[in-house]
Amino acid sequence: MVERTNYAGLIDEKYLNQEVTLFGWVAKKRDLGKLIFIDLRDREGIVQLAFNEKTDESIFNLAQNLKNEYVIKVQGTVVERSRVNPNLKTGKVEIQVKDLNILNTSSDLPFEIKDNVDANEDLLLKYRYLDLRRPKMQKNIILRSKILHVINEFFNDNKFLYIETPNLAKSTPEGARDYLVPSRVYPGHFYALPQSPQIFKQLLMGAGFDRYYQIARCFRDEDLRGDRQPEFTQLDVETSFLSQDDIMDLTEKFIKKLMHDILNINVNLPFPRITWQESMDRFGNDKPDTRFGMEINDLTNILMNEIKQLPNSNNDTLARAICVPNGASEFSRKDLDTEEQYLDRYGVKRLVWVKVDNDKFSGAGKSLLNDHYDELCEALNAKSGDLILMVIDRFKVVCDALAYLRVHMANLMNMIPKNDFKFLWVVNWPLFEYDEGDKRWVAAHHPFTAPNVEDEHYLKNGEDPHKAHAQSYDIILNGSELGGGSIRIHSRKLQEDMLKALGFTKEQAYSQFGFLIKALDMGFPPHGGIAIGIDRLVKLLSNAENIREVIAFPKNSKAAEPMTDAPSKVSQEQLDELKININDSDK
Ligand code: AMO
Repeated sequence: MVERTNYAGLIDEKYLNQEVTLFGWVAKKRDLGKLIFIDLRDREGIVQLAFNEKTDESIFNLAQNLKNEYVIKVQGTVVERSRVNPNLKTGKVEIQVKDLNILNTSSDLPFEIKDNVDANEDLLLKYRYLDLRRPKMQKNIILRSKILHVINEFFNDNKFLYIETPNLAKSTPEGARDYLVPSRVYPGHFYALPQSPQIFKQLLMGAGFDRYYQIARCFRDEDLRGDRQPEFTQLDVETSFLSQDDIMDLTEKFIKKLMHDILNINVNLPFPRITWQESMDRFGNDKPDTRFGMEINDLTNILMNEIKQLPNSNNDTLARAICVPNGASEFSRKDLDTEEQYLDRYGVKRLVWVKVDNDKFSGAGKSLLNDHYDELCEALNAKSGDLILMVIDRFKVVCDALAYLRVHMANLMNMIPKNDFKFLWVVNWPLFEYDEGDKRWVAAHHPFTAPNVEDEHYLKNGEDPHKAHAQSYDIILNGSELGGGSIRIHSRKLQEDMLKALGFTKEQAYSQFGFLIKALDMGFPPHGGIAIGIDRLVKLLSNAENIREVIAFPKNSKAAEPMTDAPSKVSQEQLDELKININDSDK
């Protein structure tokens, strides 16, 4: 077979009068009697083919048989198009076809191959190979491949070694449920698919490979959302002898190259760095979207007397608010009642809202706030026509509710610029966080994260470990957590103290992590690293709405894969071999 000379979607005036050989799919056919036009599609786009009865009757007759999605090979000459199509990259040219081979036919498809297709997601996923033919999906997958290429280039150039770590592993505590794989050889024993290569990459530092990276598949059995998949990919990095600042600098240089090479955007370094506490206070969460303002303000001091009068208030009660510029006329009482009902999920009992109206407030919070009109307007930088939304409650409730309202209102008010990329670091995290569901302290990052040196005493004396802050850092892009990392503990004693603070007895700690704890005593270097979620990165750079749009074969929102029908039942023989009994009700 003669090789392809060009991709259809890349042919332009440069190639005029040249002979080309193209392979692709019939995207559209227009039969004008003595002329037939075909849109030929390949991964790079579309070019028009022209078949003329007068030029070659036999080829013309063959072209009459073509239908959508037939696979063809054509040879022909690039010529100017009589009617230019300004919507097409190749719109100034067409191919005058001299030879046509039909390589395969196609039956009718379950949906049309076009970007705004009218089909539900499970149907698209069931026929993912067709879904992936859609131009938008081709672009996303090609972009992903380019991003992977830039990753490899950057880390190779910076003396990193690519090292693979096992997928059949022992469970590591990243905080999600594990996917388990039963062992046939050891009945009743299970491997865990790695939630991340965390422990292995640390052990690689113990082995002396001071700069490691990997494009690593990770598995977490957690509730799915628009930016979560059970199986996802990390750019996983670990280094020895580098400080937190060194690792953040290196990550920034990588991002700068990536943004330049992929989107031709010049990002300024260094990225802003704010502490976790500042992030919570100003934005209500630890992954702030800094493409717009509307920051949270604390008004507790101004409203001290009013707060004291409220039922259920105490010393921990805070009054915080955002001011929606020009929001007064956009939201009715009914709209704000609906918002208040929604906030119930965060534990909010009452949304205090007022509209700023020259020298007074109007609205549901009027009587509570009117005495402080000037002070509140000054603190919130509010002017007539603005809308003030306030929550008075404990820290967590106030933060959760206002973080939601800030982004929600910004969306409704069209305040979020598209095609803007705002990176920032959130640093100095608490070492522990309280799990309200399980009612216990858990590691905010993971149990191998080092506390700040000046906070080590909290762990050593076992006095109040939960006051410690960590040498950890998250990188945020447009309100999404892109990646996170930390300096790790490399002292055996400190690692033991950390596990103790997490509630492990010494026996439990050694039975789960003995191999790592002991290794720390055998010449382990200081080390730290980071992992960036590649799927999230591609989603944000491609402006996709959902992480599934940038993964070739993702799971649906119920963690299933409708094309191959995974997960599926297995035969009784397979179960017998693994010595696994399934409950009758689940058979
Ligand atoms: P962490 O758990 O923060 O850190 O994960 C790092 C990044 O991986 C991405 N990510 C996900 N992407 C898609 N679907 C998911 N279910 C999912 N879970 C996480 C996010 C996240 O920021 N071992 C540590 C890193 C380190 O300390 O070096 C870790 O895995 O973008």
